Amino acid sequence: MSVKSRRSLLLASGVLLAVAAVAVPVVVGTASAEPGSGNQARIVGGNQASLADHPYAVFLTDAGGNQFCGAVIVSSTAVATAAHCAKAVAKQDVRVVAGREDKRTEDGQVLGVSKVWISQGYSDPTQGDDVAVLTVRGQLDYRPAKLPDSGDAGLYAQGTQATVLGWGRIADGGARSDYLRSAEVPVVSDSECRSDYSVYDQKTMVCAGYREGGIDACQGDSGGPLVVGDTLIGIVSFGDGCGKAGKPGVYTRVSAYADDIKSQARTRTLFP
Ligand code: ARG
Repeated sequence: MSVKSRRSLLLASGVLLAVAAVAVPVVVGTASAEPGSGNQARIVGGNQASLADHPYAVFLTDAGGNQFCGAVIVSSTAVATAAHCAKAVAKQDVRVVAGREDKRTEDGQVLGVSKVWISQGYSDPTQGDDVAVLTVRGQLDYRPAKLPDSGDAGLYAQGTQATVLGWGRIADGGARSDYLRSAEVPVVSDSECRSDYSVYDQKTMVCAGYREGGIDACQGDSGGPLVVGDTLIGIVSFGDGCGKAGKPGVYTRVSAYADDIKSQARTRTLFP
């Protein structure tokens, strides 16, 4: 099945949410925009980013080398991503690309996937549980992100400045980025996000973005990290458009899945 055919549109409380357009990768909230995008005014606050600062940011490609989602290293043998990304491409065709800031280069490493774990109960991003862990063939040579523990609840407080990373579209409906991009977005309160999205579930999701829009993740960024420092608090999941006022990005709330992710991330043990 083609990636495009997996796109889905959900009608939720009168709001059409484009949730799974995984065909075009990216990061939102990107900065200075490509020449001629005509959209610079809306894409503010993002920047080209460096893997030196965020070595755990990786992307997923299909067998043809097309980047379709982001992901994040959680151990030397595993990456976390969105469930809708893990379902978009057959396991034997997925490649994890680590250590490559610019998609046009051959930098870093490309690893196959030996195992896919998808959160139990996942059906669609708007229903929550949009998280998966891919176990790679071989070893990832780059530092993992930290998973939140019980002491990190405060990271989900309204206004916490977080960083979203990815290679996705640099404008709503625009072109994907060749370079890793990042944007700073504040965590949005549960009550505000509930009023922005009727489907919002504070147990399994968290929102981040500005009320006025302009800085956000976008198609192709799905599965990628939302971090505070090096702690992974969210995974790009869905949004109504990208960077629209009153429509923050919706992320999988990683704290709700930290134990599952940890057990999937456990490195292979050699028995004597
Ligand atoms: N579902 C998109 C993807 O598969 C991610 C959309 C994120 N949208 C947003 N406005 N934050 O790449």
